[in-house]
Amino acid sequence: MKITYHSHDVFEIETSKARLIIDPFLTGNENAAIKAEDIKVDYILLTHAHADHFGDSVLIAKNNGATLIAPFETALLAQSKGVKKIHPMHIGGGYGFDFGRVKLTIAHHGSGLPGDNGIEYGGNPCGFLITADGKTVYHAGDTGLFLDMKLIGERNDIDVALLPIGDNFTMGIDDAVKAVEFLSPALTIPMHYSTFPVIQADPKEFVKKIETNGAMGRVLRFGETMEI
Ligand code: NI
Ligand code: MN
Repeated sequence: MKITYHSHDVFEIETSKARLIIDPFLTGNENAAIKAEDIKVDYILLTHAHADHFGDSVLIAKNNGATLIAPFETALLAQSKGVKKIHPMHIGGGYGFDFGRVKLTIAHHGSGLPGDNGIEYGGNPCGFLITADGKTVYHAGDTGLFLDMKLIGERNDIDVALLPIGDNFTMGIDDAVKAVEFLSPALTIPMHYSTFPVIQADPKEFVKKIETNGAMGRVLRFGETMEI
């Protein structure tokens, strides 16, 4: 499995059977080195409808004929914006796709898409547990720290956890350090930092803190790919 980090919450995951992109916020994201037009994927996974996650979903879906996987209300909102193929799911539910299994977890956050008519309802935000090629990736989405992460860690053998550290809208570094303790993943990659002034954070400080506790962390450069 290959994981590419395009900054913010944007990850591309390449499995042996399909290519996925999570929360494709590229246009207007100064840290992203790739244009939405150049993304080639089979699936788009959306954790919630905030503009910095919904991003280029419509364009990418259209260009690739990609299927959008998201919480029910977010998926229908995307459909109303022109995404043709959707696979609505909800928290606690999992589904076996051709590439592997996706299960939705809770995330403590909001989910609305600001537009000309005010904020459009996107339902509940989520996180994703993605299992493919024998590996499990947990993308927490935008969330504060929650004790149920302990349960997620107990019930899943997580190879890679993707956790927000930017504070203000999500967990900050110290809460994310606690999250790693709850989840006990083999590796943690920080996300959702330094895209905007209010979420400036040092990912190296985070990795240093979790490694002090005996966990493993890795800061991916924007655009960097790693294989697990
Ligand atoms: Ni958000
Ligand atoms: Mn966000």
